[in-house]
Amino acid sequence: MRNTTGYSRLQIALHWLIAALIVLNYFVSEGMEDAFDGMMEGTAASGLVPTAHVWVGVAVLALVLLRLLVRLVQGAPEPLGASVGDKAAVWGHRVLYLLMLAVPMLGAVTWFGGMDATADLHVIAVNVLMILALGHAAMAIFHQYVLRDGLLGRMMRAR
Ligand code: HEM
Ligand code: HEM
Repeated sequence: MRNTTGYSRLQIALHWLIAALIVLNYFVSEGMEDAFDGMMEGTAASGLVPTAHVWVGVAVLALVLLRLLVRLVQGAPEPLGASVGDKAAVWGHRVLYLLMLAVPMLGAVTWFGGMDATADLHVIAVNVLMILALGHAAMAIFHQYVLRDGLLGRMMRAR
């Protein structure tokens, strides 16, 4: 993968769109357990929440795959520094990508495959993703306003 001076306009748009859709789906999830249980018992799932949750989630998966492809083609900037914190951020981003793939995939296997065994894994994975994303956002704000190294600007202005 190429190193570049910053993220492209498309990469920035995908970062914020995916983040917004993940947060949206986290909250548009109430009743999913009942909808899934009902489906397993033979009742056809209906209602706005299951439909929205499933398709927003599938859109997240498609957008994350597109984002990874774009990253492969367009590259990404080097970490700001070489400290332990910077190395931790690189690994944090990798885990975030992994969870952004795993969460909708586990949801899809549960829902479309009628797999009871992956239901809890989907919910556990999404909670880990949200905790990590909160830490990630807090670090971005800390860099921007305490360290004042302009990190947030990398995800605001295209290279
Ligand atoms: C970014 C994507 C997603 C997020 C943030 C997310 C979030 C959540 C959350 C927070 C719950 C727990 C709801 C509760 O217990 O009240 C849940 C449950 C569920 N979600 Fe997702 N989800 C995503 C994608 C998907 C996708 C793509 C599918 C299916 C195609 C799906 C299917 C389900 C199902 C079936 C449950 C119920 C699991 C159970 O029985 O415990 N989710 N989701
Ligand atoms: C669900 C929410 C979020 C997820 C899953 C997420 C995920 C990611 C990932 C995977 C990267 C690495 C990009 C790459 O190198 O390809 C990244 C970068 C970044 N994110 Fe987020 N993000 C989220 C929310 C936020 C929020 C709320 C903020 C700001 C408050 C933020 C600020 C940044 C910044 C500044 C970068 C660039 C870091 C750098 O250049 O080293 N993110 N994000």
